[in-house]
Amino acid sequence: VRKPDCGQGILRDTLARRLRALRPRPSRVLVVLDPGAAEVASPRIHRALADAGLEGTFLRAPRGEARKTLDEVGKLASRMVRAGADRRSFVLAVGGGVCSDMAGFAAASTLRGLRWGAVATTLLAMVDAAVGGKTAVNLPEGKNLFGAFHFPEFIVADTALLATLPAREWRAGRGELVKTAMLAGGVMWRGLAAAPKGSLGRRGKVLTGLARQAAIYKAGVVTRDPREGDERKLLNLGHTFGHALETAAGPRRLRHGEAVALGILCALRASAEHGMCAPDAEEEMRALYQRHDLPTAMPGPLPSAATLRRLMLRDKKADDGRLELVLPLAPGHAALVQGVDAAEAVAVIRHTLG
Ligand SMILES: NC(=O)c1ccc[n+]([C@@H]2O[C@H](COP(=O)([O-])OP(=O)(O)OC[C@H]3O[C@@H](n4cnc5c(N)ncnc54)[C@H](O)[C@@H]3O)[C@@H](O)[C@H]2O)c1
Ligand SMILES: [Zn+2]
Repeated sequence: VRKPDCGQGILRDTLARRLRALRPRPSRVLVVLDPGAAEVASPRIHRALADAGLEGTFLRAPRGEARKTLDEVGKLASRMVRAGADRRSFVLAVGGGVCSDMAGFAAASTLRGLRWGAVATTLLAMVDAAVGGKTAVNLPEGKNLFGAFHFPEFIVADTALLATLPAREWRAGRGELVKTAMLAGGVMWRGLAAAPKGSLGRRGKVLTGLARQAAIYKAGVVTRDPREGDERKLLNLGHTFGHALETAAGPRRLRHGEAVALGILCALRASAEHGMCAPDAEEEMRALYQRHDLPTAMPGPLPSAATLRRLMLRDKKADDGRLELVLPLAPGHAALVQGVDAAEAVAVIRHTLG
């Protein structure tokens, strides 16, 4: 897995360089463009293509989680074929996680597999979604259940593109950033813990550095464990709790990364109850959330215990009323714990967020 290129204002030059380095040279570039990112990204993409001497065909990506479906990915594949795709075509996803998940999956299957690359345009895609080669669409039965591992040739993350990102999406991206910093520990954790109020937003120098560290950390984990054995599973810190909260509240009230932030608070409490982390770790995390405008409570009423139990057990890792949870130990250290009673996990959510 190639290290993501991350920086401020790097898109045109870096993308041109990455495209020029592709062997064999692409016959054409199928640009799958997120409509939300079009204004800020497309002039730079056009210039980079021209610099690399490549022809681009622009296709509009479906927008929004509700359209991350098999039907939409099929339509996208049809449009690629109608645009003249051949085995040497190169797919370039330009957008947030919905766009990279769909364009990557379309690339995995169209003509039995096309090479692809990603230009991440949301903070969440930069630190997480575009990195790691998991591509998928949702099924009516649940999120990300139909897809493929298909690794991009490169990932370009230019924080200058975040200038137009809505506040809500910033917050969601920060949720995953906190998760990665906890897992990475060391310099990244200390950088986050010391980041002053307001420094993790638009144009923040601190933000670009942390985003780069997060993207590189994830790429490292994925390189060592591409198909999700135990190490990659640790990246699910906060996610078993988070997915249940996200589904219960709906994407309008709780974005994925916001739900992960709440899930981390639950994981810290569960860990402390087992004597696995410092008892005041949750309080310290709440203070960090307050500095950086992350949620510390459910928006609206907490779902019932029965609903939470049902949603937690729907998790891909659940087995017979028992859950597999990632519990934080200390910055840089987390443990995969099997066989946690779902009732206990529900009680943790109610105590943490109730
Ligand atoms: N494959 C993976 O490993 C992985 C990991 C984490 C998340 N994901 C997936 O990623 C998705 C979430 O991604 P997301 O948070 O990026 O949401 P998203 O892709 O829905 O983007 C959020 C919104 O921001 C808009 N947008 C994108 N770039 C913009 C920009 N520069 N300026 C203004 N608006 C912009 C989009 O059009 C969209 O409306 C989920 O579907 C999730 O399942 C995948
Ligand atoms: Zn996530």
